Amino acid sequence: MGKSFDIGLDRLTGTGVPGIGETQEGGLNPPLQVAGDAESTFYLETFGCQMNDHDSEKVAGVLLARGYRQVDGPEAAKVILYNTCSIREKAAQKVFSRLGELRPMDERQGKSSNTEDTEEERRVHGDGQVLEKNHPSLRKIVNAAGGKIIGVLGCVAQQEGEEIFERAPWVSLVCGSASYRKLPQLIAELEAGNRRVTGLDTDTDETFETEITRRDNPWRAYLTIIEGCDKACSYCVVPFTRGPERSRASASILEEVRRLADAGYSEVQLLGQTVNSYADPSMRKMRFSELLAAVAEVSGIRRVRFTTSHPRDFGKDIVEVIEAHPNICDHVHLPVQSGSTTVLRAMARTYSREEYLEKIALMKAARRPISITTDMIVGFPGETEKDFEETLALLDEVQYDSVFAFKYSPRPNTPSLKMADAIPEEEKGRRLAILMDRQREIQRAQNEKLVGETFEVLVDGKSRRDNQWSGHTSSNRVMNFTSPERELLGDYVQVKVVSAMPNSLVGEMVGRA
Ligand code: 5AD
Ligand code: SF4
Repeated sequence: MGKSFDIGLDRLTGTGVPGIGETQEGGLNPPLQVAGDAESTFYLETFGCQMNDHDSEKVAGVLLARGYRQVDGPEAAKVILYNTCSIREKAAQKVFSRLGELRPMDERQGKSSNTEDTEEERRVHGDGQVLEKNHPSLRKIVNAAGGKIIGVLGCVAQQEGEEIFERAPWVSLVCGSASYRKLPQLIAELEAGNRRVTGLDTDTDETFETEITRRDNPWRAYLTIIEGCDKACSYCVVPFTRGPERSRASASILEEVRRLADAGYSEVQLLGQTVNSYADPSMRKMRFSELLAAVAEVSGIRRVRFTTSHPRDFGKDIVEVIEAHPNICDHVHLPVQSGSTTVLRAMARTYSREEYLEKIALMKAARRPISITTDMIVGFPGETEKDFEETLALLDEVQYDSVFAFKYSPRPNTPSLKMADAIPEEEKGRRLAILMDRQREIQRAQNEKLVGETFEVLVDGKSRRDNQWSGHTSSNRVMNFTSPERELLGDYVQVKVVSAMPNSLVGEMVGRA
């Protein structure tokens, strides 16, 4: 897996601040029994994208509703769950390394297992893992797995299925995201003494809605509006691991947004692997842009974000809705993956470089500035030096505010696995470094232009140092700033930029918003 050039955007959520419990539209899951046992504790660790973060919030909600208590380390937990990511190889390896650390002692003695940390894995783990969060050392509980329920959720679960039981026989639950609706039953089966349970169907038209979601962030609420993916990018596991596209009914989404506003959330982020491919399954047949407008019109909602947009389904209507609603944030994440039409074709991205640039032109022509960010893959099979140069030239042309760049990672089942002309790892690394350097300079220059300007910031962090705060602008830039105020967390304030870095702005508070 490549290093991510993770600039300015907090793709990884979770502030560590206790969340506000939130009830969602009910009636979808069977009534939950409350375990009510003081010993019923769970530890949940999440890898990967915001979709996984939010799935974990819902999984935590399901367990809390059964009377479980969440603990922040695996030692004290009766149930240990890993919500996994398999988008790139390194992320997937991480899980097996974690599971290896939980192996009971009798499994360690005598039996060889392929979850053993290899030299290669250790090297890989040592090199700047960006997908990992909340990772206390598990070494000391090596011998404590006995008596615990260990579960693997998410994309690795879906991808590896029952193989996981072979590789790590101490695992008792394997469940992919398309089967999360079954989680309450699966957990009930484990509680009833079942040794192994699985939820591996992807053949579903259902979405995962829970009665309770334990939200990690007290101000920004995540809301999945579309699950799965029907695109078939040739490098990507998501269509296999998350199943086909399923959209939630617009009325249910809007009802949830109203409840979130009532509960004090001022920012909502609509989530989907291809969020703008949203297709309302109800009679109202709302388009994505109409839904966006309706969410923005819910009273109390001060910021609406959405991610991730697919270029093919990104049209003028979305830009017009952003223009018409100041509370829809000035930010669009529009992954391009490559600047070369030849590579885009091989990736099956369904657009050319020129078609992508037409979408960028729509945003550049908007009545207020829209911050544009992207994802890029370097070293796709067959990518020539000339293709790569087209990607670099695209950086110059678009002037992205942030880029997440990855080395191509061959993934199981994907069409690109069999493509000729693999690029050597070293060359991928070289291209990644060049891309990152070029983009860093672009961001430095872009951010420097903002010195002297004033932005509204939602304050979401407080430094240990006196008077130091941080937050996000509408364009999702990180703003570190000074203010003598005693309490600002969750407030909207005006901050004037005094200096700029490639990944963040530095400012001073000049007033309340
Ligand atoms: N190798 C490298 N990067 C990948 N991504 C998805 N699949 C792969 C892969 N096989 C990247 C894409 C996507 C982001 C979430 O992860 O850039 O937009
Ligand atoms: Fe993967 Fe492509 Fe779907 Fe994105 S649009 S999740 S890259 S298949």
